[in-house]
Amino acid sequence: MIRTHTPAEFARASADLVAAQLKSKPRSVLALPTGSTPLGLYAELVRRARGGSTSLAEARIFDLDEYCGRPAGDPCSYATFIRDQLTKPLALAEDHVRLLRGDAPDFAAECEDYEKTIAGLGGIDLCVLGLGENGHIAFNEPGSAWDTRTRVVELSESTRARIDADADGPRPVPTHGLTLGIQNVLEARQALLLISGPRKLAAKAAFVRGVQDPAWPATCLLRHPSATVIELVEPGRFR
Ligand code: GLP
Repeated sequence: MIRTHTPAEFARASADLVAAQLKSKPRSVLALPTGSTPLGLYAELVRRARGGSTSLAEARIFDLDEYCGRPAGDPCSYATFIRDQLTKPLALAEDHVRLLRGDAPDFAAECEDYEKTIAGLGGIDLCVLGLGENGHIAFNEPGSAWDTRTRVVELSESTRARIDADADGPRPVPTHGLTLGIQNVLEARQALLLISGPRKLAAKAAFVRGVQDPAWPATCLLRHPSATVIELVEPGRFR
């Protein structure tokens, strides 16, 4: 576990790992998270790409999850987040970016197509993950089996409460999400779990216990052969 102590250091350490992956394989297949945690990483990647020290021009970009019922153009969709934070600032080629479609007419077909597209590119090289308060990764909620793949899931009460609390204004909270599965994460050649925020203590503690437990989905990474955890340790907080 890499411990960082400022948001800038957290962003740099995360970007270092992504940049190293891109250097070793410019056409890397990246599966990327949304949320407040990776904001600094994306800003740092954009900064480095503009400065010429790294490039995502050849990377293939996927996202981890999406709300069912939210079209890509919805300001609160995860697709909009990835586009605003990364793919638009870097002007990445449209055909290098494949994001889950929250408004797909047939979710089973959407999940199948997502899997096929990833497989057609040779699988995920680097899967970057945030951490949910209840230990979820992407939308793999507690109890998700280790062999799950891209699918529709019902969001837990705690996840829905968090979405509601984080929303800018009142709007219906999604009941379901589309998500890469735990098996997809385990199949990625490399995984990077980013942990930041005071609400993550219980989930982090489960990880630190070192016991693989589907009640805490992030602990699946304990069986991943190449997983890195980067944590932002907040000053003054008991760890
Ligand atoms: C949502 C997403 C997760 C993300 C988590 C943490 O639940 N589905 O993929 O990791 O939020 O978000 P934050 O980084 O804002 O704490």
